[in-house]
Amino acid sequence: MKKNQKKARLAVLVSGNGSNLQAIQEACKTKRLCAEICLVLSNKPHAKALARAQNAGLPNTVINAQHYPEKGRFDTALCVELQRAAPDWIVLAGYMRILTLTFIQAWKGRIINIHPSLLPKYRGLNTHERVLAAQEQEHGCSVHWVVPELDAGPIITQASFNLKASDTVDSAKEKTQQLEHMLYPLSLAWVLSDPTRFHGTTQRLTNQKPNVDHTVQIIKADRLKKLDAQWRQTSKLPNLFD
Ligand code: GRF
Repeated sequence: MKKNQKKARLAVLVSGNGSNLQAIQEACKTKRLCAEICLVLSNKPHAKALARAQNAGLPNTVINAQHYPEKGRFDTALCVELQRAAPDWIVLAGYMRILTLTFIQAWKGRIINIHPSLLPKYRGLNTHERVLAAQEQEHGCSVHWVVPELDAGPIITQASFNLKASDTVDSAKEKTQQLEHMLYPLSLAWVLSDPTRFHGTTQRLTNQKPNVDHTVQIIKADRLKKLDAQWRQTSKLPNLFD
């Protein structure tokens, strides 16, 4: 965290387990990440992520998607909650509902997601299954800006590990998530430390055509572990991109 850096307000949108939420919360709590979670919002009333938010004393709310069969109305409810919480950034952490175009445009350049594949490969669901079926050598996760097209926004960071012949869907998921828990807080800290650094990237979000063709250096699992350990020990944000 830089001296005098103002804490950013994060609204974290969840639907499931909430392990990424927890990793982000821990980074905020230990002041590695100069941010506070101003709202945890779930579209599922029984998401474990909500229990995690409550245990951590974080402001939290549910907008039960089943009560809003009309997408537009769900979005209005979402916007009301978000306007009240006044976040600087919207962080998707296992949020399993597709955001509408209107919503994404309203928060353009301020929505970040983590996806369990090395984008642009394997957008969408069931990534671990598909990666194994394709006999990929490498798998991992990507942190990216959210644009209207699903999982197609400019990539901020990526981390990877080598798959073994013995890997299963469960083991691939577990290894991916281990990387996610390091990569997501680090990437958020990197973005927050100087959002203008990503000006070029966020600028592209103003186009309707998402652009994923810029080169992002994929961080290998071993290196990510070292960066994470260094960050935890010193609280000084390591350079992710050299
Ligand atoms: C993660 O694998 C993330 O990449 C994907 O959904 C999963 C959420 O896991 N978008 P959790 O709820 O954070 O444990």
